[in-house]
Amino acid sequence: MSSNTLLNALHSRRSVLANNMCEPGPNDEELHDILKAAHRVPDHGKIGPWRFFVFRGDKRAEFGAILKLRFAQKENSASAKLLEFEAQRFMRAPIVIGVSSNPNLQHKVPVWEQELSAGAACQNILLAAQALGFKAQWVTEWYAFDEDINKVLELNENERMAGFIYIGSTKEEPSERVRPDLNERIIHWGE
Ligand SMILES: Cc1cc2nc3c(=O)[nH]c(=O)nc-3n(C[C@H](O)[C@H](O)[C@H](O)COP(=O)(O)O)c2cc1C
Repeated sequence: MSSNTLLNALHSRRSVLANNMCEPGPNDEELHDILKAAHRVPDHGKIGPWRFFVFRGDKRAEFGAILKLRFAQKENSASAKLLEFEAQRFMRAPIVIGVSSNPNLQHKVPVWEQELSAGAACQNILLAAQALGFKAQWVTEWYAFDEDINKVLELNENERMAGFIYIGSTKEEPSERVRPDLNERIIHWGE
């Protein structure tokens, strides 16, 4: 890939909403390539402070059943329609990758740096999916912050979800999106 191709991809990156996704998703080899890219992020101290949870095939519905149960517990007046949405949540895309931040608190590298590294892993998943011609969206939604769901995922004590990345195809290309002003965010220090 020439550097221009990479730059164009970076400049044109857009998320596709999980709700607008369809088959096909990555095959085993493509999934491996995506995870390899995620694993290649800057990682001070070679800690690897992240884990990847892959949901595919029937496991998406199995996890959806857990989400539905938990949602019903939390929101006891939830309508049948909302509960059904929870059951189908992970079926919106062919593959969902949950990325956790799993820092080593004993390490001299600050936890903040380790957390940033997990965020970079999420971003690399988006970019690798795009490079393979897929669409992706990084979301947290409610279940990334739910203690009971963390238990289902068997997260370690200091581990938390950085996000869930939905990956698939779409029938509807996204339009451009208004972006915050870049110039307002650039400081040429001292100039
Ligand atoms: C950490 C993180 C969590 C996010 N969680 C959600 C979410 O729960 N729901 C949502 O609609 N968008 C969420 N987003 C935003 C989308 O991933 C996406 O960036 C947004 O829809 C804008 O599209 P764009 O990536 O093309 O700019 C999240 C983004 C980040 C970085």
